[in-house]
Amino acid sequence: MPTINIKLEIWRQEDSISDGIFESYNLNDISTDMSFLEMLDVLNEELTHKNLEPVAFDHDCREGICGTCGAVVNGIAHGPEPGTTLCQLHMRHFKNGETIVVEPFRSRAFKVQRDLVIDRSSLDRIIQSGGYVSVNTGGTPEGNSIPIPSQTSELAMDAAACIGCGACIASCPNGSAMLFTSAKISQLALLPQGQPERKERAQNMVRTMDLERFGNCTNEKECEAVCPKNISIRNIARLNREYLKGILTGL
Ligand code: FES
Repeated sequence: MPTINIKLEIWRQEDSISDGIFESYNLNDISTDMSFLEMLDVLNEELTHKNLEPVAFDHDCREGICGTCGAVVNGIAHGPEPGTTLCQLHMRHFKNGETIVVEPFRSRAFKVQRDLVIDRSSLDRIIQSGGYVSVNTGGTPEGNSIPIPSQTSELAMDAAACIGCGACIASCPNGSAMLFTSAKISQLALLPQGQPERKERAQNMVRTMDLERFGNCTNEKECEAVCPKNISIRNIARLNREYLKGILTGL
């Protein structure tokens, strides 16, 4: 099994009010089949054996589904592989002897809690302000009772692939949450099921985005480039249309 030796420069920060610093660690004989998070597990095991504090990092499914993991690796959110979450990034994408710099997602709206862990609750508050449909649905309707063109359902499903990891925000020079918010708005606006509250949804979610101190979009496209789910910035154009419609209809 091929293995590599690496040097890690990892951001260490005790809590949200302390100053952080990069610390260096050497790791030898890392299997190239390991995921990035498994490599961090190995590091933490070594640190624990030496009675040192392990590196705190977020993770849950480790299958690219939940959106919990995330860090900036060598300057790129989720690392060098396009369309890949940190948990799905494998060590075969790094060279023997390479120095790998790991730091948390940084943005005005994301506070570093400890090491690589950040507070992403601002994204939850955007969803709470409009990313839902509050309507009594009754029993499960017959599957074919609401016909939806396949192209439309594809677009809605593509938007619904957003896992809310925050890579788009960490990569945007404006710290904008437009890609995230636009995906959540699109998945509802495109489908008949999302029509209740459609008019006020974009208004409310954009207002919350501003309150949470996310920046605006200036078409840098960094968000699209790092999105592990390849969410398109075309969704941002849809968000802008939804927002404008809300204004023109007097909301
Ligand atoms: S841990 Fe769930 S997406 Fe990475």
